[in-house]
Amino acid sequence: MVTTYKSELAEKISKLRTERKAVILAHNYQRPEIQDIADFVGDSLELSQNAARTDAEVVVFCGVHFMAETASILSPNKKVLMPDLDAYCPMANMITAEQLRERKETLPGVPVVCYVNTSAEVKAESDICCTSANALKVVESVESDSVLFVPDQYLANFIASKTKKQIHYWPGYCPTHARIQAEDILKLKAEYPQAKVMAHPECKPDVIALADEVLGTGGMLRFARQSDAKEFIVGTETGIIYRLGKENPGKKFIAASDKAVCGRMKITTLEKVLWCLEDLAPEVKVPEDIRVRAKAAVDKMLAIGR
Ligand code: 13P
Ligand code: SF4
Repeated sequence: MVTTYKSELAEKISKLRTERKAVILAHNYQRPEIQDIADFVGDSLELSQNAARTDAEVVVFCGVHFMAETASILSPNKKVLMPDLDAYCPMANMITAEQLRERKETLPGVPVVCYVNTSAEVKAESDICCTSANALKVVESVESDSVLFVPDQYLANFIASKTKKQIHYWPGYCPTHARIQAEDILKLKAEYPQAKVMAHPECKPDVIALADEVLGTGGMLRFARQSDAKEFIVGTETGIIYRLGKENPGKKFIAASDKAVCGRMKITTLEKVLWCLEDLAPEVKVPEDIRVRAKAAVDKMLAIGR
């Protein structure tokens, strides 16, 4: 019964998507049924690149608010919709443009690298943007011996362990990845001694220290495909397990913690996707003065790539 209802919704979405000349983008953490109806499922960098490339008139962004803003920054002439505007990233809300301006005054001449998990206003105050897939490359690209990295202190800490540059931190973090504990990994390693441990760089340092591979979500999908291992402990938001399993039949993926669920990623449902296509709302539109400045930081990142 439930399956029938969902497939009916999926059919209606599909029809309306064609009528509206829309493309549906979904992050790797979205619910399985949202991933299944999306035209493209990916990590933050892939979604930004896709948003820049698509010639659709309407972009339906199934992810969190900063991702839809990034699409609006890159495609000001497209209508960027979000099925639920309450899908924000709690880490992105840990820094405001005003707070960043104040901190910049204490660090004159130090360039700002902002994680893509930030508001458009924060991006507009930054020199260059990065994602988990290219953070080290971006930091290395900056012509300065030191950078201010905002807002994720754990990603900053991971980068600091890989670069000679001095990293000034911001005390932000992802509350979802912070739920993954080192003891969760140790228990699972004892249970699955052959398993490879993958951890997202948003995890805490004691979790990262136990990982065989530290990767963003796109990197995890590639590593799982290419590796000869048959079992993987997955240290990130649990939504990615669906895609990992779908793309790798015969391999086993074990969530590092079933508490690592990003509630805001999950509030997007099939019904809300359908309603936003019907109403062509709610729309995410970055004001032009902020957009132009934020775009400079995002463009610099896109030029660097992965
Ligand atoms: P990725 O860029 O690795 O997909 O990560 C996005 C994110 O929000 C992680 O919590
Ligand atoms: Fe933000 Fe963490 Fe959710 Fe990613 S998982 S969207 S960083 S709160």
